[in-house]
Amino acid sequence: MKSRSLPVAVAAAVVFFLSATVVLAAAAVVEHTFVVSQMNMTHLCKETLVTVVNRQLPGPTVEVTEGDSVAVHVVNKSPNNITIHWHGVKQRLNCWADGVPMITQCPILPNHNFTYRFDVTGQEGTLWWHAHVSSLRATLHGAFIIRPRHGASSYPFPKPHREIPIVIGEWWGLDLAQVARDMALNIFTDYSSASTINGKLGDLFNCSGIAEDGYVLDVEPGKIYLLRVINAALFSEYYLKIAGHKFTVVAADANYVTPYTTDVIAIAPGETVDALVVADAPPGRYYMVTKPNQAPLPDTQTPEYTTRGMVQYSSSHSPRNGTATLRSSRRSGDMTVAPKMPDQHDTITSFYFHANLTSLRHMRLTPVPTRVDERLFITLGLGSICRRGQFCKRGESNETILVATMNNVSFQLPAMTTPLLEAHYYHTDGMGTLQELPNKPPRAFNFTDPALIPFGPKEERLEPTSKATVVRRFRHGATVEMVFQSTGILQGDSNPMHLHGHDMFVLAQGLGNYDAAKDVAKYNIVNPPVKNTVVVPNLGWAAVRFVADNPGVWYMHCHYEFHLAMGMMAVFIVEDGSTVDTTLSPPPMDFPTCGHDSNLMPNELYLRTKKSEVSRVMESKS
Ligand code: C2O
Repeated sequence: MKSRSLPVAVAAAVVFFLSATVVLAAAAVVEHTFVVSQMNMTHLCKETLVTVVNRQLPGPTVEVTEGDSVAVHVVNKSPNNITIHWHGVKQRLNCWADGVPMITQCPILPNHNFTYRFDVTGQEGTLWWHAHVSSLRATLHGAFIIRPRHGASSYPFPKPHREIPIVIGEWWGLDLAQVARDMALNIFTDYSSASTINGKLGDLFNCSGIAEDGYVLDVEPGKIYLLRVINAALFSEYYLKIAGHKFTVVAADANYVTPYTTDVIAIAPGETVDALVVADAPPGRYYMVTKPNQAPLPDTQTPEYTTRGMVQYSSSHSPRNGTATLRSSRRSGDMTVAPKMPDQHDTITSFYFHANLTSLRHMRLTPVPTRVDERLFITLGLGSICRRGQFCKRGESNETILVATMNNVSFQLPAMTTPLLEAHYYHTDGMGTLQELPNKPPRAFNFTDPALIPFGPKEERLEPTSKATVVRRFRHGATVEMVFQSTGILQGDSNPMHLHGHDMFVLAQGLGNYDAAKDVAKYNIVNPPVKNTVVVPNLGWAAVRFVADNPGVWYMHCHYEFHLAMGMMAVFIVEDGSTVDTTLSPPPMDFPTCGHDSNLMPNELYLRTKKSEVSRVMESKS
């Protein structure tokens, strides 16, 4: 690039000018058809029926230019109720397209269609889409890429030679609809059987000695690649490394960050990270490895899997490594360089990775609001409710159901047949059954005491939890500060907290208990990272601020599927402002209506859990 001759540079400038003109002239409608159907896939010697979009896993990538409109026709040919959520897309004044079953819309029933229509404005970078139907999202997801309106030359970093989505996922050799029903019924014995890079399990997995296919990224020496990394897994935060190479992180959650060079990326479910990789190593083959982390003992240990793909230099530039050599080395695998990965119980590497992110000072950067209107302190952890009545034996008892909580309340969908957003918009009945999300937990305790992790007398006193449809209303334009505090109650997990419809300024994070008296001083109010998913560290806290300026009914939840299924979520209702352009638009004409199947649990409509099944499980457990 440095040695580019003048005529070439001029030509490039002209091309840029022309393409910029073309792009600017046409704010396009990007149209896709997503056919949701089931198909058989075979991995690890086992054929499994999976639900996918357009028979692809991961599903199709949606690529747009900032300013475009999107129309995705969803054709549901699967037996499950489906919605698609456009994770991180702000959906300004258009909460109707947010795709959360029974919160923003009735699900798309089997053999029904619905077209999601929305504009993508004021955002650039990598986002993704996924079904918001419990575990089904493990196979119903894909990348959502927003390019700058003025073309790739306006990236605030060197223009990459190629851009590549890297979708980290999990392979479940199980019926995921059943996994969802099990989680809803408090059965947590289902686990994934592998992790994947762009849908491939890689050579650490095999069927009768024959290695699974792995993802291969072909590179040319000296070129720059932009990896758009997405964690679409249900259960784990991952570390990503490429042997012999470094990453320069340039964006996270579709917001530019100050370029940050590291050899490891930490990415939790729901997060996205854009990173440049320069192919500057000696030509050869290098493993690209993703490894999940989990909290150490005494936390419950779950089976988790490392997977690997490969970065492979094109042979044309390295005569000594002809194609034949590459092929044979691929078979034996011995010439491929492997990275040294963090330990599976290393959670501090994630803490530092996230702490090192700051916003790039950039055109689009909005300043952090300094006046705070509303303050919430939210504890995250587990708890229990009695299967029958109000009082029961706690601890390791089968008289209780384990739940996940925010401020000691576990969310349940309202027993309504209309989605909350419609009830809110039309002021219909049912909004009366909502409860306010408490501003703080009912009592203070040493939140991060590791003695709370195993069942025991200390933890038992803190276990009792209530269940409610918790919402929090915000006046349009209110600045909200939330401090999320991970607790040690029955687990020491981190919590990737995701807010729909808004980005959050991540002001600070820390380990242990949040202490306003000393921690407010640590707030970065100059250039904090801006995220839609904030990772609240294991036995630690994170402080965020956001402006509630997008009217609607927005989900706020942990992006670990088991926490979500157990109720770690709440709904934020943002009121309309006083002008037309601060007011929620009316619903689309062809908005889905809810089917009436009286055999379904009202609040589990989206899961299609049968009443008979619930009583069967309840009986077998007690
Ligand atoms: Cu990817 Cu409600 O989230």
